[in-house]
Amino acid sequence: MEVKNLGTGIMSNETLKKLRAWIGLGLLLLLTPIGITISVAIYLYDTFVRSKKCKKIAGEVAVVTGAAGGLGKCIAAELAAEGCHIAICDINQELAEETAKEIAINYGVKANAYKVDVTKYEEVVELNEKVTKDIGAATILVNNAGLLLHSDQLNPTVRDIERMVNVNYLSHFWTNRVFLENMKKANKGHIVAIASIAGLVTLPYSEPYCSSKTAVRSLMRVLRAELKVENLTNIDATTVFPSFLHTHARVKQFAMASGYADLYPLLDGEEVAQRIVKGMLNREVEIAVPGFFALTYRLLSLLPARAQDLVTYMPMKRTNAFYAFESIKEE
Ligand SMILES: NC(=O)c1ccc[n+]([C@@H]2O[C@H](COP(=O)([O-])OP(=O)(O)OC[C@H]3O[C@@H](n4cnc5c(N)ncnc54)[C@H](O)[C@@H]3O)[C@@H](O)[C@H]2O)c1
Repeated sequence: MEVKNLGTGIMSNETLKKLRAWIGLGLLLLLTPIGITISVAIYLYDTFVRSKKCKKIAGEVAVVTGAAGGLGKCIAAELAAEGCHIAICDINQELAEETAKEIAINYGVKANAYKVDVTKYEEVVELNEKVTKDIGAATILVNNAGLLLHSDQLNPTVRDIERMVNVNYLSHFWTNRVFLENMKKANKGHIVAIASIAGLVTLPYSEPYCSSKTAVRSLMRVLRAELKVENLTNIDATTVFPSFLHTHARVKQFAMASGYADLYPLLDGEEVAQRIVKGMLNREVEIAVPGFFALTYRLLSLLPARAQDLVTYMPMKRTNAFYAFESIKEE
């Protein structure tokens, strides 16, 4: 039997659809200034009120993964400067030991090195046991360990992709699960995830990197929701989105060869680490470095997907990401 859609009887379906679209647009226009006002109010509150009520972390034990060198080492040093005892956790044991010694001498805190592959759940469980025995139960966890590039970025092997996703994303499930238990017992704690601006925007020829960093953002949002639901208000979760840094030689080379470094200067590990620890103390939930990037990607996300794709495609052509990746292949 033929079913006729008669609309309301007064207006045709087409007119109804157009009307709905105009009402939607009208609502969006109405809500935009309200959204902007709320954002500005939150920003002002965070800057002038919340930042005055900094939390204290002196005496807490902090586990920093991938802390033998690079950004992780800088974060470990900043936390030590705040009076935290530090577990330098890295797959590179030799460098981790050097770093732990340096931090212990420079800041007068307990600092030990631990060899761990964060992709292995059993090793993370063992790490927690060792750290608890040596320096105390960790209530701060910084998930910083990460792989940034494949040896051949344009043609990664199956194993390369698997390894990157496991280090950059899967490992957070293991470390969060293990160390959250300490935080629940102590009724305080902080989990920090080092993502990347590549988790907010798109970098061509970097599918495993960009998507693993985007996934970390989602994981941390769910974690924050669960902490709220379970009323664990003394445990914080912060995600960090830094731009290109000086810390990684090949990334630095890529940023310069592609022209990305001309769009925004490369950041120092120390300045990013200072911003991260300041954000932790202020209990910020997401930190973009440089800060203006937080606004840029929010504005970008208002555009239709097709327009967002175009914005990604244009700098790629202009900055020759493809050739830049080719030029760093041999390292
Ligand atoms: N360098 C940049 O431009 C940049 C930009 C944005 C975000 N980041 C993020 O910052 C973090 C640190 O980057 P970085 O520049 O200091 O890089 P890095 O290579 O200097 O440091 C990464 C550390 O992780 C360790 N590591 C790797 N795999 C591991 C594993 N399975 N288990 C334990 N440790 C492991 C490495 O040994 C190394 O010490 C990464 O998560 C990276 O994605 C870096």
